[in-house]
Amino acid sequence: MRYFIITGASKGLGEGIAMALLDEDHHLFCISRNENRDLVKLASARNCPIEFHLFDLAKTRDIDSLVKQIFTGIDKSKAEGIYLINNAGIIDPVKRVEDCNSDEVNLHISINLTAPMLLCSAFIKHTADMSTEKRILNISSGAASNPYYGWSCYCTGKSGLEMFGRCISEEQKSEEYPVQTISVAPGVIDTGMQKIIRGTSERDFIHREKFVDLKESGQLVPPSLAGKRLASLLLSPKFPDGQSIDIRDTY
Ligand SMILES: NC(=O)c1ccc[n+]([C@@H]2O[C@H](COP(=O)([O-])OP(=O)(O)OC[C@H]3O[C@@H](n4cnc5c(N)ncnc54)[C@H](OP(=O)(O)O)[C@@H]3O)[C@@H](O)[C@H]2O)c1
Repeated sequence: MRYFIITGASKGLGEGIAMALLDEDHHLFCISRNENRDLVKLASARNCPIEFHLFDLAKTRDIDSLVKQIFTGIDKSKAEGIYLINNAGIIDPVKRVEDCNSDEVNLHISINLTAPMLLCSAFIKHTADMSTEKRILNISSGAASNPYYGWSCYCTGKSGLEMFGRCISEEQKSEEYPVQTISVAPGVIDTGMQKIIRGTSERDFIHREKFVDLKESGQLVPPSLAGKRLASLLLSPKFPDGQSIDIRDTY
């Protein structure tokens, strides 16, 4: 059995990744505030065990106990692999730095950076005695390495997440049973996040029109396709451990 812990599988890219992972030899633990009933139904049809843990990742103090609870459902003796996919994320606040208030900045960093850091930390702790394949996939963005007007929180969070992944790899190098970690920019995908971006004002996000054009010219990738590509990378023998990559460079 391969075990997958995936955040943000209720919709968008996370749903696409989870769909691609549905298999009778896989057990999925999904973390989000809402359940995805279609995903649960499809999982049942494919004999794939799935559980939704309804949880607000902004509540970072409770992440340790959430992970502890998830691991009670994992039979380490049967595990052929164990995987953490940090996918959940938000784009707001989209506005200039001086217009962002402390609640907005704190919420953003809690969900997009602190939560995945704590999930990685708990994952590494709970899997330390496991000699099986152990992998973390952090969903990043081109915004991790390119500054965007109006996206200071988003760019900072993704950039921090990529560096965090590199630090994990540095620490895991000397482990007997290392956890492998990568950060992947998934391309531009047709999800609710893109809708939010198109709904922002030119004043707050000067590149808005470019994202409207991408949608209108059919250049957004369907989440199901992006999910398949990421799931295949996650399970690939050529998993690029320690690297930050753009999925578009792999096909
Ligand atoms: N779409 C793109 O073009 C694009 C490009 C580059 C990178 N990405 C990255 O891809 C990832 C997925 O984004 P998406 O486009 O699929 O966005 P989305 O459609 O808005 O989905 C976001 C997911 O994150 C979850 N989430 C958000 N806030 C949460 C919270 N407080 N607690 C728990 N879960 C929370 C949502 O679940 P609930 O609402 O049920 O809690 C949802 O499942 C993000 O990390 C994003 O930065 C997206």
